Parts: sequence; structure tokens; C-alpha cells
Amino acid sequence: MVTINKIKSMKQKEKIVCLTAYDYLFAKLLDESGIDIILVGDSAANVFAGEETTLPITMTEMLYHTRVVARAAQHSLVIADMPFLSYQVSMNQAVYNAGRFLKVGAKGVKVEGAEPLVPTIQRLVELGIPVMGHLGLTPQSVHKFGGYKLQGRDEKSAQKMIKDAKLLESSGCFAVVLEKIPSSLAKEITSELKIPTIGIGAGPYCDGQILVLHDILGLFEEFQPKFVKRYAQLAPEIRQAVLQYKDEVKKGIFPDQKHSYD
Ligand code: KIV
Repeated sequence: MVTINKIKSMKQKEKIVCLTAYDYLFAKLLDESGIDIILVGDSAANVFAGEETTLPITMTEMLYHTRVVARAAQHSLVIADMPFLSYQVSMNQAVYNAGRFLKVGAKGVKVEGAEPLVPTIQRLVELGIPVMGHLGLTPQSVHKFGGYKLQGRDEKSAQKMIKDAKLLESSGCFAVVLEKIPSSLAKEITSELKIPTIGIGAGPYCDGQILVLHDILGLFEEFQPKFVKRYAQLAPEIRQAVLQYKDEVKKGIFPDQKHSYD
């Protein structure tokens, strides 16, 4: 079983491999494949529910996804994304909501942002709730950014991100996700921190990598960011299987004798 301490100890020794999952079946496949961290991402809003942003997903929905993923995990560390507005309004609410994720089987939570969250992160960690940070293109701030743009491009924002990463570390985060930032900046943050960095669109120098499972499987076809590599093309295969089933039912080929009871 992968633990928070194991993840911390992997820095500079072994790359940390992470993927998202939102349901039992996929989580079981990831777990059996030895993935280190399964993130129950709020990207479920886009990938699972077809929303344009991650903002609409609720605590109730994220708790359901987390519960079914955690049920499948015998090996992988399950981390749950705290949805928009579940941790920003008050510290008490953040503690209560984060605790609910642990009650359904997550081993820690992920929050987006840094400075305004420092007291909350410190409190969560103090209360025994491991926290993963998330900097760079934090999708819950898409409207502030004006789209899903590369972050940390100019010196000022790069310096701010380095400062934020150090803040997350000193607040007690066990790892930090760096999303869609230049490789050189991710390299610098990775070398400045003692906790692992997990990159998504942040180049090869991070301590680990994360991608959305449906992207690498070629299941989510609506768009393909540059940082996504497709390791399979499942959408056309599924379409083909469904078309063949439809054709066979229409023509009376299925069910045949072999798939019927005497
Ligand atoms: O919601 C998500 O899937 C994420 C990622 C880092 C992949 O936050």
C-alpha cells in the first residue's frame, strides 16, 4: 500500500506515477497496474459529466466518486480533489469537507492555490488530513486566467509561483501538482522543494507525472492539449463495437444459439 510517507520518500529516487479515476472499474485497473497515486480529480466535471469547467461539481458528487474509487484501491494512494467552494469559504467548512473525503476512503485531499489558503492547509495538516497543493493552471480559476493558458511565463509570475510552492511546502503539503507551466520553471521549483512535484504539462523534470486517464486512453476526444499523449485509441474501438452490436440486433444475428438458453 502506497502511503504519504512513501510518496515523500520517492523524491529524486523514483518517479511518482499518477492518474485520475472516477469509478470503481477504472480505479481497479489502475490499482492492479501499480499506479502510485489515483487522484479523484474534479476533472470528473468535464470528463464524466460533460461540463465546460470544473466549477459545477459538488461535494456530494465528489464524495460518490471518491467512495467508489477508494473501494477499488488495494495498493494505490487515493487523493480526492476538493471541489470549488468546498474549502475557500471558511476554515471550519474546509476541515469538515476534507474530513468527509477521509471518511469515504481518501488518504488525503488536493486544493488549488497558495497564499490565501495557508491557514487552512496548516489546520488540515495539524488535524491529520494530508494535503496536496496545486499551482500553475489551476482550473478552478479559469475565469481569472481567461482560459486554459500556460502560466508562469514572465519573470514576475514565475517568481510568485516559486514563492507559492515554498509556502505550500512550509504549510505542510506532502506534494504539489504543477500544471501547464514551462519546463524550466517546473525544474527550478522541483529543485527548490523538499516535497515532490507532480507535473501535468510541466515537462520532464518534476518528481512525478499525472494525466487524466480518459485522455491517455483516447476516450475523451473533445480536445487534446499538447501535453497529453494518447497511449490507446479506445473511442473508435468502442464506437465500432457498439455499431456492430446494433447491426447484429437489427439483422437478428444476435442473440444466436450460443448466447441463448434452451
Ligand atoms: O482534476 C484533475 O484531474 C486534476 C489534475 C491534476 C489532473 O486536478
